[in-house]
Amino acid sequence: MADTLTITDNRTGTQYELPIKDGTISAMDLRQIKTDGEDFGLLSYDPAYKNTASCRSAITMIDGDKGILRYRGYPIEQLAENSTFLEVAYLLLNGELPKADEYSKWENEITNHTFVHEYVIRAMDGFLHDAHMMGKLVTFIATLSTFYPKSKAVRDKATRDEHIVKIIAKMPTLAAWCFRHSTGRPYLYPDNSLSYCGNFLNMLFRMGEQNFKPNPILERALNVLFILHADHEQNCSASAARAVGSSEADPYVSLAAAAAALYGPLHGGANEAVLRMLREIGDVKNIPSFIDGCKNGDKRLMGFGHRVYKNYDPRAKIIKDLAHEVFAVTGKNPLLDIALELEKIALNDEYFVKRKLYPNVDFYSGLIYQAMGFPVEMFPVLFAIPRSVGWLAQWQEMLTDPAQKIARPRQVYIGAGERDYVPMDKRG
Ligand code: CMC
Repeated sequence: MADTLTITDNRTGTQYELPIKDGTISAMDLRQIKTDGEDFGLLSYDPAYKNTASCRSAITMIDGDKGILRYRGYPIEQLAENSTFLEVAYLLLNGELPKADEYSKWENEITNHTFVHEYVIRAMDGFLHDAHMMGKLVTFIATLSTFYPKSKAVRDKATRDEHIVKIIAKMPTLAAWCFRHSTGRPYLYPDNSLSYCGNFLNMLFRMGEQNFKPNPILERALNVLFILHADHEQNCSASAARAVGSSEADPYVSLAAAAAALYGPLHGGANEAVLRMLREIGDVKNIPSFIDGCKNGDKRLMGFGHRVYKNYDPRAKIIKDLAHEVFAVTGKNPLLDIALELEKIALNDEYFVKRKLYPNVDFYSGLIYQAMGFPVEMFPVLFAIPRSVGWLAQWQEMLTDPAQKIARPRQVYIGAGERDYVPMDKRG
């Protein structure tokens, strides 16, 4: 069996044989298919990239039909059970799990860069008191670019590595300060004697305590949530990081673009939208009319459906179990009953079954975050912290892939043909 595709162009009767590699044909191979010498050549048309591989990647593997997610080959379930977020970050960025000495060096480096320029606190005062936390985070990720102009040397590996560490280290500090500003609490500095997640909880919630000790169950839960959110291959925000980074923009602005993409309610803003939806439903008895609204197109069941998963999102399964562990500490989130019933009904309803709509990562995560004391505006921020690792891994892979160039899609022009300018007084 030849690994080729034979195409007959019925406009000309010419046959072409295109190589198939890894289940793909190269879109550039279509360019040779022309009606005559003047013809530009055939393009593929794929709005929203539904069937286009934009890169070859060795980072994250998803089998959407089977509901499988692996980072660098390791099943997400095993990583969530056994690993820490920083270990997973190392894995995603370097391709292998760290040995003990590599891990302690990595952890040390991250811990030593958690402090953020004091001007961020001053700039924070420029925001309205009710500014959305994610809007602030996007701004401050971009702001770091102005503090680190040397990060623009993106072709230099040592420079890239330096700023990868800085970003992973500073994200929790920025996020915590956005939270403290919104909640009117004084800003706290990192406590480098704590773990990555423990220190984040400290900067968020510590008030007058001398020795803040994060609850170990909540610290572990945050670790698991961060692991689950760390990467998800070529989604909207990773594609934004790659596209912006492909112009050789520095990593801070490339990641700010990715964070902006994540903010949308169809992407990382969905966890916030789920909570608002559950509140709007308000009671189990209102679920049937809400489901009817989804079916007639008036409503959308947030936290359900995925471009790639046509099965239960494996992350949602882990989060659902984790929710019970967290609720044992925080008390049950009363919205859980609505979520469970909603899931039960949707999984048995023909509309959702036929379209293969299952709970995704955002369906249960918000319930945990809310029970831990986070306001809904903080949810996308909590997604962005761990996902910055995925964006960086994707950005680094893009820059080191010789096949990549500046991202620049083609279009099918459907506008007016050439016409002459009409002076204003002659326009009908
Ligand atoms: N509720 C009701 N109907 C839905 C939903 C939903 N959540 N999702 C998809 N559909 C319907 C959609 O109306 C369409 O129906 P029809 O064929 O009759 O026109 C069909 O299912 C296919 O949907 P689609 O919009 O073509 O699918 P997509 O791949 O373009 O969109 C999605 C994927 C995630 C944007 C979408 O499922 C959605 O809006 N879900 C709710 C938002 C959400 O939870 N987003 C988080 C995604 S996971 C986290 C992340 O990776 O960011």
